[in-house]
Amino acid sequence: MNLPRFGAKRAAIMKPTETPKTYRVKSFGCQMNVYDGERMAEMLAEKGITEAPEGEDADLVVLNTCHIREKAAEKIYSDIGRLTKGKTQKKAPMIAVAGCVAQAEGEEIMARAPAVSVVVGPQAYHRLPDMLDKAVQGERVTDTDMPAIAKFDSLPQRKRRSPTAFLTVQEGCDKFCTYCVVPYTRGAEISRPYSDLIGEARKLIEAGAREITLLGQNVNAWSGEDDKGRAVRLGGLIRALAKLDGLERIRYTTSHPNDMEDDLIAAHGEVDKLMPYLHLPVQSGNDRVLKAMNRAHTADSYLRLLERFRQARPDIALSGDFIVGFPGETEAEFEDTLSIVDEVRYAQAYSFKYSPRPGTPAATMDNQIAKEVMDDRLQRLQARLNRDQQAFNEGLVGKTCKVLVERKGKHAGQWLGKSPWLTSVWFEGDAQIGDMVEVDMVEAGGNSVRGSLSAAA
Ligand code: SAH
Ligand code: SF4
Ligand code: F3S
Repeated sequence: MNLPRFGAKRAAIMKPTETPKTYRVKSFGCQMNVYDGERMAEMLAEKGITEAPEGEDADLVVLNTCHIREKAAEKIYSDIGRLTKGKTQKKAPMIAVAGCVAQAEGEEIMARAPAVSVVVGPQAYHRLPDMLDKAVQGERVTDTDMPAIAKFDSLPQRKRRSPTAFLTVQEGCDKFCTYCVVPYTRGAEISRPYSDLIGEARKLIEAGAREITLLGQNVNAWSGEDDKGRAVRLGGLIRALAKLDGLERIRYTTSHPNDMEDDLIAAHGEVDKLMPYLHLPVQSGNDRVLKAMNRAHTADSYLRLLERFRQARPDIALSGDFIVGFPGETEAEFEDTLSIVDEVRYAQAYSFKYSPRPGTPAATMDNQIAKEVMDDRLQRLQARLNRDQQAFNEGLVGKTCKVLVERKGKHAGQWLGKSPWLTSVWFEGDAQIGDMVEVDMVEAGGNSVRGSLSAAA
């Protein structure tokens, strides 16, 4: 195949160069991709490389990529092109490609983009500092090994100061949904050891975290042994974390309907620090499509599961993921997805057009759906999801709720934070990043709620 080449001016074996002094990490994917980006930044900082200030050139740019849909994956080539042609910054930087595209297409990237010095997969990025040393000598280096646990053992201590933090507890996926690349880019399911997680959570809290979100591709598949050797699942880990002083909020994402355990559901009714929010993707409301997707659950079993969460925690806010236009999806089957949305009334949701991914079974299935049909279905689905999100936000108006302040708003004196239900809330007044404040909910928008600092606080 004749692929376009980017940055071809630089030779395949590069000239030795100076060790970069500044870096920029750009993350394009899911929350775990963001977590990985933060960890890479910490490693670069340990190596004495500092983050390039906003708007200034970086000597090293790490493109932390996502392979989940075609659009996301293709983006890296245009980004590389812009970096080498001086459109993103004045001087062309050293480029490292990390993340799931690096894992899936490492060799292709090296062949197609000679300006790339380093390709590093999501399970190998603990080796990034050594790879950079080689790149400085002029070598082009690729590492897409999958020693998942080894990675965590050799990452530096957490230091970043932020009121909210991600903590990867589980990684990889054994589910093999027929449309999805994750089992290939992230490898088999692994759980990080309990004591490591408690230790990392403590460090995060010392560094100022008041909210921790536990991450995993299938976070509720996590299992481990506590310090007395007893088997623990995610519910038990959450109960242990809830005992840590200084931590006020616990969240987890993303769960899979088939790994749900009773104790996690019960924890929602019993652990105050566990926030009333559940992201549980269903993808489709039709059983034939679910089967073709290899989801191994039905629309009805999913609804029954949600019911159990609602019994444990009646105010729980629900969120999900949907794919429209999976190969062979008929209009009637798509309407089953609309029906499940009507039934659940999600507080938030993510919906996507099916994107055929190389190497996945669905990519070669018959009856791929035309783009216009997908566009139409996505629009109809999103109209309902937006309606429900707006309704959820309006339901908050008149209430007072705790908001954890995460950052400054667009205008002076404005603050942005999250409600317990993960609603974005903005308000004006006397506050600081990291404060937990009482806010009266005043006006609902589609994506956020405007509030006002409560007089009672
Ligand atoms: N592990 C999680 C989510 C993984 S990817 C889970 O199983 O729920 C996040 C979302 O991207 C998926 O839930 C799905 O809705 C969407 N997705 C994955 N592969 C896709 C594809 N080939 N085309 C369109 N959307 C896709
Ligand atoms: Fe992908 Fe399915 Fe695994 Fe989620 S459960 S990561 S959608 S294969
Ligand atoms: Fe994307 Fe990889 Fe996450 S493909 S969604 S960055 S696991």
